[in-house]
Amino acid sequence: MSNVNVVLGAFYGDEGKGKIIDYLSKDAKYAVRFSGGNNAGHSIEVDGKKFAFHLLPSGILNKNIKAILGNGVVIDPKVLLSEINELKENGYEVKNLYISDKAHVILPYHIVFDGLLEEVRGNRKIGTTKRGIGPAYCDKYERCGIRMEDFVGNNFRELLKINVENKNVILKAYKQPKLKFMEIYKEYKEYAKALKKYVCDTTTMLHKAIKNNENILCEGAQATLLDIDFGSYPYVTSSSPTIGGVSTGTGIGARYIGEVYGVIKAYSSRVGEGPYVTEQANEIGDKIRELGHEYGTTTKRPRRCGWLDIVALNYAVMINGLTGIALNHLDTIGKLDKIKLCVAYKYKGKITTDFKANLEFLNNSEAVYEEFDGNFGDISNCKTFEELPENAKKYVNRIEELTGIKVKFIGVGAGREDIIVR
Ligand code: GDP
Ligand code: IMO
Ligand code: MG
Repeated sequence: MSNVNVVLGAFYGDEGKGKIIDYLSKDAKYAVRFSGGNNAGHSIEVDGKKFAFHLLPSGILNKNIKAILGNGVVIDPKVLLSEINELKENGYEVKNLYISDKAHVILPYHIVFDGLLEEVRGNRKIGTTKRGIGPAYCDKYERCGIRMEDFVGNNFRELLKINVENKNVILKAYKQPKLKFMEIYKEYKEYAKALKKYVCDTTTMLHKAIKNNENILCEGAQATLLDIDFGSYPYVTSSSPTIGGVSTGTGIGARYIGEVYGVIKAYSSRVGEGPYVTEQANEIGDKIRELGHEYGTTTKRPRRCGWLDIVALNYAVMINGLTGIALNHLDTIGKLDKIKLCVAYKYKGKITTDFKANLEFLNNSEAVYEEFDGNFGDISNCKTFEELPENAKKYVNRIEELTGIKVKFIGVGAGREDIIVR
């Protein structure tokens, strides 16, 4: 039995990963973020109080957990410090935080470029969160990025100077104002001082934990269809939120990984631009948005809403090797009279169940639906699958049948306790 388990988004993000991670982290010693940055927004409701995590792992509400930001994460120091402070104000002192010395730092110019590049894209814009994520990963791969070890060490001033000078050349070409090196340096060296105590070699730490048989929970941000390789490119994020990202973003080799839980909603949503086969850009989508409170945790944007897509889900099963599904918002979908489930696509007159992460394919595919009865009534107090009404059971059973994967967790409300575990 492996002691490394993973929770991933199986669609376009915001599936309710935070809630599932919070639940599973009860039994974990380590909660680890492995990709993305503060483009993520994971909400958890505890006793009616809402917590939103952007950078800190959602497992951190379990007080004994060791929270790790792995090397695959990009870190905005300002955001991280304010998240730590906010948590403290709510009675959660962040003591056990470990930041990989190899994680890259998001600096103000990354945020400037994120906005600027979106403008330049015009009607091909991606709809990014404008948090500097893409430009920070660009610098990482271009090999001019600043890693945490340099940020909190002696090289920060020199590396920042080189970067600011280079970025100013590009900004000049775009007729944009110059970055002021000293201003950025003075502000950010204070953040570096505050974060220094958290920075360490998290990979060795995790491998010691594996040897000691301590449970590690790896927390996905974003989702399979936003993956830089396997998502709806170019309408994706700039990292690997899929299973491969766990290894490259933590240093934990594939053979150590056990359960891989894919999180979905009983319907679907997407924020930002890009194809979305089961989207309901109509009164049904509006109704789902209102019933599910589908407004972005990070950017507050209204989320595009639609039906659950089994073709896309089976792609997520395949790419990630899912061993279980977590299905959230069964309560929300049960408020509709009729529910549709996409079981195939019609592409150029032919029925297919093979998902292709290709714009031409996705833009020209039409969903083929099965219809289910809704009106589940109030299911928020159901604690077991057996207690669910027949209509709800039928819907869940069909998802299992079509994927061949067990629905191990069912969300019946936003609260921490509103979960059926099978
Ligand atoms: P994440 O990014 O995948 O962690 O998801 P978000 O937190 O961005 O969005 C999920 C939203 O759905 C949050 O507001 C959650 O509080 C809420 N939520 C999660 N699971 C359930 C559920 O089973 N029922 C209901 N009604 N709300 C849920
Ligand atoms: P969680 O972890 C939903 C989307 C953005 C945009 C695209 C690229 O809460 O599920 P980026 O800023 O990453 O360059 O934006 O990806 N996006 C998300 N959508 N949930 C997220 O995170 C997202 N993180 C990025 O809306 O379309
Ligand atoms: Mg979210």
